[in-house]
Amino acid sequence: MRPTGAQDCPPPRHVAIIMDGNGRWAEARGRPRRAGHVAGSETFRTIATHAKNRGLAALTVYAFSTENRQRPPAEIRGIFVLLEKYLREAVDSMERDGIRLRFLGDRDAMPPAARRLAEQTDLISQRIDGMTVSVAFHYGGQDEILRAARLLAERCREGKLAPPDIDHACFEQALYTAGLPPLDLLIRLGGELRLSNFLLWQAAYAELYFSDILWPDFTTADFDAALAAYQNRRRRFGGV
Ligand code: IPE
Ligand code: IPE
Ligand code: MG
Repeated sequence: MRPTGAQDCPPPRHVAIIMDGNGRWAEARGRPRRAGHVAGSETFRTIATHAKNRGLAALTVYAFSTENRQRPPAEIRGIFVLLEKYLREAVDSMERDGIRLRFLGDRDAMPPAARRLAEQTDLISQRIDGMTVSVAFHYGGQDEILRAARLLAERCREGKLAPPDIDHACFEQALYTAGLPPLDLLIRLGGELRLSNFLLWQAAYAELYFSDILWPDFTTADFDAALAAYQNRRRRFGGV
């Protein structure tokens, strides 16, 4: 047995979070689900700032999945309102905070106002040299892989690429996450033990950390506990 406190891994560079449990958090308080999403968006702001202070290179959060489109229209509208509010604030604050913002997912499915704001934050991000916060919105891991396959097939059809040249690096360039560091740690809140279609390719060798905490209750200390657990893991990548 390893001595307790032995730190096998250097700190993670790229952490992803499935921010789950907003609805149950609200329901437990007799409040509408929307209240849970409002509280969850505050937690996101707190954790993003904390992750930057911890020196992470990248934080990627799951905010809305391709499957979440099945939710009641009123709940979806509420989530879009929160996204736009966050984007409007980010336009003003991201440069000061040194946070680059990126969106992973189907932009065409975003409401036009949010899409325009995301284009603005893309431009501002080019001027920033800091942690990248990626928000997965209208994101699905299977969608992402299909989209990459179509993109590469199209390039082959045009004669710009030959099938034998499609290796790991080439495929990763066609994913939404192109250019981000490899995913080290994937945290899921809310008690479910599944990936729910998040970062299927990228999670191939990520360390997984599950917690029963509902996302709005998640604190900076809880985040640090996940980082500490990660550092006590031994990553073998199939070796010995
Ligand atoms: C996660 O919280 C946020 C989104 C999926 C948009 P949920 O809304 O899934 O909350 P629970 O799982 O129902 O508690
Ligand atoms: C995953 O949570 C998606 C997000 C956190 C955005 P869900 O609540 O949608 O996942 P399932 O339905 O429990 O798998
Ligand atoms: Mg959920």
